[in-house]
Amino acid sequence: MLLLLYCALFLSGHLPTASSVHWGLGYNRQSPLQVPNPTGPQEVFQVYHPVSFTSKESHGCNTEILLMEHVFGASYGKPFVGNYQPPGCEFDTVGINLTVTSRGRQFDRLALMYLGDTEVFRTSTAEPMAEGIEPQKLIFDLGNLISDIYTGSFNVTLTAHFSYQENARTADIILPISAANSLSNSPSAFHVPGDNTTVQHRIPAAVSRAIVSISAWGQSQEEFWWSNGFSPDTEDFKSTVGELSGFSPFREIQLYIDGILAGVIWPFPVIFTGGVAPGFWRPIVGIDSFDLRQPEIDISPFLPLLQDGQEHSFEIHVRGLDITAGGIATLSDAVGSYWVITGNIFLFIDDKDSPAPLVMNRESEAPRVNAPTPRFTITRSLVQNQTGGNESLAYCVVAERSFSASSPRLSWSQTLSFANHGIFNQQGCSQVNQQHTSGNFSTVELEDNSISTSTLFEYPLVVSSTYGTTGNELTIDAWMERGLYIEATGGPGISTYTLTSGPSQLRSSQSGTAHYQSVNGGNSSSQGDTMHDFESLRNGKLYKRSVRAVNGGMAYDSDPNSKTMGSPSHGLDGLGRDSVRSMLGRGPRHLS
Ligand SMILES: *[C@@H]1O[C@H](CO)[C@@H](O)[C@H](O)[C@H]1NC(C)=O
Ligand SMILES: *[C@@H]1O[C@H](CO)[C@@H](O)[C@H](O)[C@H]1NC(C)=O
Ligand SMILES: *[C@@H]1O[C@H](CO)[C@@H](O)[C@H](O)[C@H]1NC(C)=O
Ligand SMILES: *[C@@H]1O[C@H](CO)[C@@H](O)[C@H](O)[C@H]1NC(C)=O
Ligand SMILES: *[C@@H]1O[C@H](CO)[C@@H](O)[C@H](O)[C@H]1NC(C)=O
Ligand SMILES: *[C@@H]1O[C@H](CO)[C@@H](O)[C@H](O)[C@H]1NC(C)=O
Ligand SMILES: *[C@@H]1O[C@H](CO)[C@@H](O)[C@H](O)[C@H]1NC(C)=O
Repeated sequence: MLLLLYCALFLSGHLPTASSVHWGLGYNRQSPLQVPNPTGPQEVFQVYHPVSFTSKESHGCNTEILLMEHVFGASYGKPFVGNYQPPGCEFDTVGINLTVTSRGRQFDRLALMYLGDTEVFRTSTAEPMAEGIEPQKLIFDLGNLISDIYTGSFNVTLTAHFSYQENARTADIILPISAANSLSNSPSAFHVPGDNTTVQHRIPAAVSRAIVSISAWGQSQEEFWWSNGFSPDTEDFKSTVGELSGFSPFREIQLYIDGILAGVIWPFPVIFTGGVAPGFWRPIVGIDSFDLRQPEIDISPFLPLLQDGQEHSFEIHVRGLDITAGGIATLSDAVGSYWVITGNIFLFIDDKDSPAPLVMNRESEAPRVNAPTPRFTITRSLVQNQTGGNESLAYCVVAERSFSASSPRLSWSQTLSFANHGIFNQQGCSQVNQQHTSGNFSTVELEDNSISTSTLFEYPLVVSSTYGTTGNELTIDAWMERGLYIEATGGPGISTYTLTSGPSQLRSSQSGTAHYQSVNGGNSSSQGDTMHDFESLRNGKLYKRSVRAVNGGMAYDSDPNSKTMGSPSHGLDGLGRDSVRSMLGRGPRHLS
């Protein structure tokens, strides 16, 4: 999408200033598509494992509560703020049903829901306090999607379904790593670079396990981080397609506790609706783009350090790569603008009835941390043509890292690998990135017969896009193949990463082609053909679904109960936007 912006603006003859270009980049994820609506609304959906909203046994809650019914008009800086009062019955699972209807524009699903200062996602239970469940302030931030061009409003209904599923162990205390803005009725996400992400927390002595979940995604210059170039190459194609985003296609999110590295996350390359080429994502959106997972770091080895009754600091960083002229890569201190980040610390108490051990002046004991410097191998080759113009650029990053932290009771270890091969051709107008991320995160309880849990994952990705320009016509031809594969034994409670408790497996893969064309930056059309194969095993139940969408309508759905087939194919044509700027969804919002 980055190059679309530059190519498009270049061709439209209105060369913007650099700053206004960046300003616009964050909006690509809003699909610019205006779908004609002759026969009623079309459902845009993410393929997911169906969630049970009802209790297994007759006892416990089976209750639905309406949390919010709200029209988000010009809502930037104006989140919905309401009160959340949990029901009196017993529950261990809360399902959140978020329904958004919009006439005229695709819904931006990057809405954030908070209870107080804590970001909440579906299937992570938000039972806030050990001392009972307290009413909380509900803050729902849908950002601003409205401008003079984007006139559609977003009608949002949010319900919570409380049930008792028996098999779900929930955290006893959840502490936020967030900007803690709920007192001023504001959303609490950090924006980095810029914000100081350090927070202080006191960890009760009764806690026996502690897991940190991290929610982080890139926006603007960082939305397509996996296609970014090396910083010394950002001007290679400036004269043809404009400036590229830098810091390489490698990203690492780091958690620090008291200044000690506690674990790292190598993010899943989420692609939001409208990303790369809009025709891919309607009506089947990209993997996870409606429901972002939060990878987890087990910080239990830090408990002996943390349980001394004092406050301790938690801090999240995002790193890319700095690359020297000599070709040496090191983790960068910062990345481009910007990432939206929060974390949650899930605390589990084993025996709630036994009196808490004395905490006063307990000697704190740091974990044994083994964090060798990650290994990076990079290559880069810029090819120039006869007249000295930059013709093509091939670059590659291979990264390997291992990390472990151990206490006498428990050991957390991570091994991670990453590779990204990128090629720009045709003076920057054609780009392919082939990326593969994989990892093994595991916890071994050393005292407890060496019980171990592990999460294995793989994120393959290939994205190719070519921008063509003839006369006043701009075209994009793109194809992609991507996957999200997870195999997990399950940890102490519901995982914010696997979205379930207990063992689970997921194989979700998408592939497709898309074409986009616009004349004079205005009259535009999209075509697309996307397949999605989904196979998920959780709670002992296997769910499989294969779907295919062609040009905005459903061409195949293996799920006989699905209502998507037979829904009208609205197509994607006749968009009639006034300009490339509006087509790209540039809005007035600027967050950092
Ligand atoms: C979610 O809510 C929408 C409308 O509010 C409703 O149509 C839909 O059936 C609900 N889904 C579930 C699974 O309850
Ligand atoms: C949104 O809600 C408003 C007010 O309730 C209503 O007038 C409008 O038709 C709704 N729009 C959609 C797309 O449902
Ligand atoms: C971030 O905030 C913490 C306290 O919350 C402070 O100790 C630290 O110096 C700050 N860091 C920067 C870079 O300002
Ligand atoms: C070619 O790339 C180099 C290195 O990034 C840059 O300095 C130069 O301006 C580029 N040439 C053109 C014509 O864009
Ligand atoms: C060489 O590259 C420059 C820009 O990078 C381009 O303007 C020029 O047309 C190219 N020349 C040839 C002969 O391809
Ligand atoms: C994952 O890591 C754990 C701990 O290092 C190890 O015991 C296990 O064999 C690894 N699993 C795989 C599939 O590599
Ligand atoms: C837009 O494209 C459609 C289909 O190609 C065509 O019928 C229509 O005349 C075009 N409109 C403008 C303003 O160019």
